[in-house]
Amino acid sequence: MVLGGSGLVGARVLDLWADDVELIAPTHTQLDILDHTALTAFLAQTEAPVVLNLAAWADVDGAEPERGNRDGRVYALNARYPTQLAILCGEFGKHLVHVSTDYVFDGASLERAYREGDPTGPLCWYAETKLEGEQGVLGAGARACVARIEMPFSAQPHRKQDLARLTLARLGRGEPMVGVVDQRITPVFLDDAIRALGRISEARFTGTIHVAAASWTTPYAFIQAIAARLGLNADLVERETFADFAPKRAARRPQHSWLDVSCFEEHFGRDVLRAPEEELDAWAQQVSATSRSSLS
Ligand SMILES: NC(=O)c1ccc[n+]([C@@H]2O[C@H](COP(=O)([O-])OP(=O)(O)OC[C@H]3O[C@@H](n4cnc5c(N)ncnc54)[C@H](OP(=O)(O)O)[C@@H]3O)[C@@H](O)[C@H]2O)c1
Repeated sequence: MVLGGSGLVGARVLDLWADDVELIAPTHTQLDILDHTALTAFLAQTEAPVVLNLAAWADVDGAEPERGNRDGRVYALNARYPTQLAILCGEFGKHLVHVSTDYVFDGASLERAYREGDPTGPLCWYAETKLEGEQGVLGAGARACVARIEMPFSAQPHRKQDLARLTLARLGRGEPMVGVVDQRITPVFLDDAIRALGRISEARFTGTIHVAAASWTTPYAFIQAIAARLGLNADLVERETFADFAPKRAARRPQHSWLDVSCFEEHFGRDVLRAPEEELDAWAQQVSATSRSSLS
């Protein structure tokens, strides 16, 4: 069962798994996940053994106006609902895979990427509520996994933008863009992330696990690598420091939000999560086979 199947991640899950797995993916109209009675009834009648939760409030800056409001929509979607979902999954004997974010960390670690057990330190309301959701899921007594993903980027059209398609759009139109040079990130190719979620689901993995690129890059290098692969004008990319970038956004963000994926690799091998260069080769290949105008 997939919840949040119309989102950036969810829509691609439905594309990639439709041929191999029997999927139940109620739309928002069919099931309002904040309606506890409806959610309970839905889970009670489905035979799906695994629930993949991708439904969330995922607009980081858009969450800030609700900062501190535990009666608000952001808190309801990211903290209260996942906790209730996990309790229900426990009651109905379903395995829950709940997707979370690298933003639970404060991004101060320059020495090494974040491991699953490292202390968290959310800097914005989105991150705080996602962290509470993680804690609620893992504390509900269900067989559950929290999979933290980072900056998924897709080669398919979707209403929600990501850094790779934004780069394609802007440089493709000959518009300048900026790339942060002093930030360590591990952005994951969405198709790789979904393969990883598939492995996690099949194995009924429990606990927290990181799903990200196998090594780090910077936003500036990432954008440059895209330009090089698609023959876009790299001179349009301006360098920017994190100190200049950060104050322009409503929500505080972690600077070095890089995830260590060695736990995933130990359990599932090294053939799923790739270094950014390899991810971008696969991404660019898919982009070349798709109409570029549909992506931007
Ligand atoms: N995108 C990223 O850069 C990123 C990075 C790290 C982690 N994540 C995490 O990955 C997960 C998926 O993110 P995403 O980018 O795919 O999010 P998204 O595109 O914003 O999708 C959110 C999904 O939640 C659904 N939803 C919201 N409220 C609902 C309700 N009341 N009832 C039923 N469905 C509801 C939406 O359905 P409708 O649109 O139909 O309302 C949509 O399918 C989230 O947990 C997010 O925190 C995302």
